[in-house]
Amino acid sequence: MVGNWKMNGDRGSIAVLLSGIRAASRDRAAAGAATLVVCPPYPYLAQAAQALEGSGVQVGAQDVSSYEAGAFTGEVCASMLIDAGCAWTLVGHSERRMLLGESDALVAAKGRRALAGGLGLIACVGETLEEREQGRTEAVLARQVDALGELAASARADRFVLAYEPVWAIGTGRTANPEQAQAAHAFIRARCARAGFADADSIRLLYGGSVKPSNAASLFAMPDIDGGLIGGASLVSEDFMAIARCAAPAA
Ligand code: PGA
Repeated sequence: MVGNWKMNGDRGSIAVLLSGIRAASRDRAAAGAATLVVCPPYPYLAQAAQALEGSGVQVGAQDVSSYEAGAFTGEVCASMLIDAGCAWTLVGHSERRMLLGESDALVAAKGRRALAGGLGLIACVGETLEEREQGRTEAVLARQVDALGELAASARADRFVLAYEPVWAIGTGRTANPEQAQAAHAFIRARCARAGFADADSIRLLYGGSVKPSNAASLFAMPDIDGGLIGGASLVSEDFMAIARCAAPAA
């Protein structure tokens, strides 16, 4: 269960959020059995790692550089993220693909660096509303998954997670219904196998897009939905933990 905090919060509000998550994660029954990861903005990663130390809740970044290190102004590389206490990074979030023009090739290059540097990878895919309405959902997902195929050799299932996030469901309050999400997840899993991922059956596939405590259980009950990538609701520790409790334990 991954909380994507996006560009929200400040030192004070993040301290409150972290202590809420830490307190709730102490109680196994309250926390549920899911693996928990939170992804704060870069300046708060070390704060998060320190606040969550020993809690079992892991820290992830929201992005990583496709470069290794050196003269790349504004970039943050995998080794720095590990140094700051991260175990994971997101890549390919639709906000970055759309607002910053990140291509499939750049997303794959970032993924390659993350895995080579020792980070676990959470790669995001998903279609826009226009693509869905034009009947192009599977073609878009196939293109995005195939572009990640070059990672298949280096991506073990415990360090490689895919998140299906239909762009039309992100931050809109409009969730894919469980059947729509399941159909996309089943397609993505099959496409991973075709793209060369030997352990496609055990890759964890997260659903993201307006997941809330009220709709989480029905989504996570679907056979190919293994967890969630939670945006807005992850900014309230009670809601994030309530969603986490709806997840099945990690395989
Ligand atoms: P949302 O965002 O839960 O606020 O829709 C999900 C995401 O973008 O990761």
